[in-house]
Amino acid sequence: MTTATSGTFEGRTAIVTGAGGVLGREVAARLAAAGAHVLLVDRDPAALEKTLASLGTTAGRVATHVADVSVDADVASYVDAARALGTGEIALFFNNAGIEGVAAPIEDQRIEDFDRVMAVNVRGVFLGMSHVLRYMTRGAVIVNTCSTAGHRGAANLAPYIASKHAVLGLTRTVSLENQERGIRICAVSPGPIEGRMMASLNTQRGLTRPDDSVEATAIRYSDPAEVAAAVMFLFSDEASFITGSALVVDGGRLS
Ligand SMILES: NC(=O)c1ccc[n+]([C@@H]2O[C@H](COP(=O)([O-])OP(=O)(O)OC[C@H]3O[C@@H](n4cnc5c(N)ncnc54)[C@H](O)[C@@H]3O)[C@@H](O)[C@H]2O)c1
Repeated sequence: MTTATSGTFEGRTAIVTGAGGVLGREVAARLAAAGAHVLLVDRDPAALEKTLASLGTTAGRVATHVADVSVDADVASYVDAARALGTGEIALFFNNAGIEGVAAPIEDQRIEDFDRVMAVNVRGVFLGMSHVLRYMTRGAVIVNTCSTAGHRGAANLAPYIASKHAVLGLTRTVSLENQERGIRICAVSPGPIEGRMMASLNTQRGLTRPDDSVEATAIRYSDPAEVAAAVMFLFSDEASFITGSALVVDGGRLS
């Protein structure tokens, strides 16, 4: 679903990490439809191809790049690839790749699983901002994908919860560092989204999904399009006075 006004980001270069996933795919489609040159980044080549195929004809130029966001050299290479798509400047960065890790009480969490979640969700977000900001100028925007898990705890998800709290801390700090440069650093904090990640967590926890027949918005999962719309708002000039904070998109779950 692409509802962005065509031409809004004409000729501007954007990077989307986790572009093979449900949220990255939806945001990439909107950026491309709005005329941006979009580099689709993911560690999974097949998922990237699926996203590319789903875009069809777009106003902007689109390319794929296989990279692991937790590896410094991979981040440098995706930034180089994005710079080659357009003028060399990066205007929009959706710093979004993330993993859920293992659902278990802390005494049953393996240190390897904790380290992997922190590597992707924290180191990856850190490295992305560190490299991309070198090629951003006034008016550029970064949106980091946080979560309602960045604002409150949840039993049996210590690594993921810790990682998303860190994403909020990074967003706040880096936004302060870039206020005078006129670069906004925001976060989006979705509640559960319809897709692979919630299916994985539900399987691990032996849960069935919430009942969609219940009408309360906080009970249902969001459609990725509902979160992508918030991300596009943060990228837009309509959000010109928003930086250093997270936009929660959870149907009222945190309320
Ligand atoms: N799905 C939800 O319910 C939900 C809720 C709140 C926040 N989030 C966050 O939204 C973001 C996107 O998640 P999603 O729902 O699209 O999940 P998803 O699993 O559909 O997509 C995540 C994508 O990231 C990629 N990826 C994972 N590790 C990577 C790495 N090291 N390098 C490069 N790519 C990597 C995966 O291959 C996948 O394509 C994540 O940061 C996630 O934590 C998701």
